[in-house]
Order: sequence, then C-alpha cells, then structure tokens
Amino acid sequence: MKTTISQAAKFVDKTVTIGAWLANKRSSGKIAFLQLRDGTGFMQGVVVKSDVSEETFELAKNMHQETSMYITGTIVEDTRSPFGYEMQVSDIELIHESIDYPITPKEHGTEFLMDHRHLWLRSKKQHAVMKVRNEIIRSTYQFFNESGFVKIDPPILTGSSAEGTTELFHTEYFGEEAYLSQSGQLYLEAAAMAFGKVFSFGPTFRAEKSKTRRHLIEFWMIEPEMAFVDHEESLEIQEQYVSFVVQSVLENCKLELNILDRDLSKLEKIKAPFPRITYDDAVALLIEQGFTDIKWGDDFGAPHETAIAEKFDMPVFITNYPAEIKAFYMKPHPDRSDVVLCADLIAPEGYGEIIGGSQRIDDLKLMKERYEQHNLTGPAYEWYLELQKYGSVPHSGFGLGLERTVAWLSGVDHVRETIPFPRLINRLYP
Ligand code: 4AD
Ligand code: MG
Repeated sequence: MKTTISQAAKFVDKTVTIGAWLANKRSSGKIAFLQLRDGTGFMQGVVVKSDVSEETFELAKNMHQETSMYITGTIVEDTRSPFGYEMQVSDIELIHESIDYPITPKEHGTEFLMDHRHLWLRSKKQHAVMKVRNEIIRSTYQFFNESGFVKIDPPILTGSSAEGTTELFHTEYFGEEAYLSQSGQLYLEAAAMAFGKVFSFGPTFRAEKSKTRRHLIEFWMIEPEMAFVDHEESLEIQEQYVSFVVQSVLENCKLELNILDRDLSKLEKIKAPFPRITYDDAVALLIEQGFTDIKWGDDFGAPHETAIAEKFDMPVFITNYPAEIKAFYMKPHPDRSDVVLCADLIAPEGYGEIIGGSQRIDDLKLMKERYEQHNLTGPAYEWYLELQKYGSVPHSGFGLGLERTVAWLSGVDHVRETIPFPRLINRLYP
C-alpha cells in the first residue's frame, strides 16, 4: 500500500510504502535511524540489522543526504517525537542517489542558503514556514468565500499607479510605457461597483530601494474592496479576518508551529476586537516615550511602529493619518480635512504594518481636485473618474501583505524566508 507521511497515523501496525528522501541519518553497527521526508512531512525510519536483508542494511547505513527511495515498513506509534509515529523498515528501493548535497545539517550562512533556495526549501524549518503560508492562503479564501465576497483578478500590467510613482517597475508595452502592478485597488473599486464585495489575491511589485527585513520587491497582497461599507465597518471586517486566519493557523499548523518554536500564547490571544489609536495619539505617545525625531505630519518608521505595538499585545490600528502622507484616493475625515479615514494595522512583536486600508473618496469634484494635486492625467486615470460619476457610493477596502503575515505567525524575522523564491534588491536568482 503506497501512502504518505501525513497519512501515517491511519496505518498503525500496517505495512506501507512511502516515496521519500533522506533528510538526515544516524547509524551504529546494528541499527540505522533514517530521518525521512516526503514533502507532506518528516518521519523517522528505523532499520534494524537483524530485521532486514544485508543489502538493505548496507544501503541504509551508507545512504547520503537527499537520496530518494521507496521505503517499506510497519508504522508504529512513537511517543517521544512530536510527530508521534515512526516506521520499522523492512525494505528500501533506491530511486536516485544524491552525492555531496550542499546543505548539510551544520550551520550555513544566510547568503549561502539564499543562493541555494531551490534546495533550502526542503529543510524542516523552511517547509514549516511554507505550510503556515499555505494555511493563511487557504483560510483567506475560506473567510472571504464564506462572507459573500467575489474573487476578482486585477491586471498585473497597468498604465497607472495606485500607490505613488516612485516605486514602479517600468516595462515597454508595444511602444507604450507600462508598469507592473503595485496594487489592484483601482480595478477592485470598479469591481466593487459591479459585485458589491470583492477581493483579489495576487502578486504585486514595488521597486523599493528598501533593504529591510519587511520589504520584498515582489510580494503577495490580499485586497478586499467593499461597496456600502464605511471606514469603521471595514476595520471590523479586518479584525475578524485577521483573527480568523490566526485561529486557523493555530488549529491546522500545530506541528509546524512546534518545529518553528513559536510562542503559542502570544498567538492564542489574537481575537477581535483590536485596539485603535489615532495618529495624533500615536505621535503623542512616541514623544512621551522619548522619540525626539518625530513630529506631527511625519510618517512612522519601523522603530516607531514597534514602540506603538509594544503598548498592546494585540495587533493595533493606527487611524486617521495626515492626508499629506497618504494616497490620493483616501476620503478626508468629515470633521477635519487634514486627516483621512484610513488605518494601518500594526502586528505585535515588531512585525510591523500588515494592513493598509481606507475609506475611498466617492465624490467626483473632490477626486478631480486630488487628480490636479497629484498630477494624475491621461487615459490610464480617466476611467477611474467614471466610477465617481455613475452612481458613486461609500466604499472602503484594504490590502494585507501575505509575507509579513507569514513572518509574524511563524515567528521568522525576515520576509525573505516567507515566500518560496524571494525577490530582493540584490537577488533575482534562484
Ligand atoms: O499599505 P500598502 O502600500 O497599501 C496598498 O497598496 C493599498 N492600495 C491596499 C488597498 O487598500 N487595497 O500595502 C498594503 C500592505 C502593507 O500593509 C504591507 O503588509 C504589504 O502590503 N507591503 C509589503 N510587503 C512586503 N514588501 C513590501 N515592499 C511591501 N509593501 C507593502
Ligand atoms: Mg502602507
């Protein structure tokens, strides 16, 4: 019977065959312990000399790291390992030998590992991080599908910029200038007027010269956009969504979080509602805490965000930023034209901003003023004005960065380990 490591629990005391690779090995004269991995998980195979043929024992004893095989044996409970099961091996069929695998169980430098990302993905920790990523993706679809959202795919090649013109990847489009999408938002606003509640989930690109542990050049963003939903209502959906994802990861990634040594008590607390603090109060708080470099009107950097987040053990919404430092499409506060109806959601434990969102302008006259202030002209922007012209309604939306969320939930400190093949300022390979 052919099965996988993830299904092993269903085969206790039965003989099965698993296609696997050798992750690591320990052996003595009479016994070999094979650390096996098959993509679905990791499990130990025990080869006892007296239980197998001489060839099988020799093969097991001399096998190199990452050699592939079909391995056959009986599944037994193993209370000492977190996985809970191991295989008592009866036979091994070699598929392909692996000689001199570059990533050994010893420590390697990050640049070396990044150069070997195509192989590094096989390691236990990287495997766990990608499984957490997968669970965030799965639960995201579940949340929005169950909440009546329609998935809409905005274009990647665009003629306009949603988030400012300095961080655009330029490309040539049959004699015209085009960009890789920074955000699907403008298209999602069009879609919200057609479908009510929509979301997108796709790659976005920022030609950012930032070399920090939170910035990627290519990253994935979840962008919900909702008609007839105001700023406050949007915050409620955001906190429900994030809580749902955190609880799903806790529920479905127990082994992975264990491998990652994640402090579960920090994640178990994450339940809606989340605290809110206005930008004004956040500035006051920072000044009170001795930040002399900040004044009203400045954008927050990572140290500021971390200092604010440390005041709470939950993600915190910083609301109503100055209009000056936010995007052109944000709706001004009804009582104060210097701030906008927006919020950034800051993750706890120093993982930074995971969501940027706002209520959008729904007034043609004001939008035309913003176009002039931001110098937005040409056909790439004209269509967007028509959304304001034909039955505009209050609407809000937000964008959650997948990789920063993976970093937070898996507890890895750099986003380069949260996406299979990271694109960084100095890295386009592998
Ligand atoms: O705050 P941002 O720039 O917001 C937007 O793009 C809006 N148009 C979204 C919307 O309202 N539909 O980006 C949203 C999130 C950030 O909070 C962050 O989590 C992530 O995207 N993000 C990045 N993640 C990794 N690397 C980068 N360079 C990122 N830039 C933004
Ligand atoms: Mg932002």
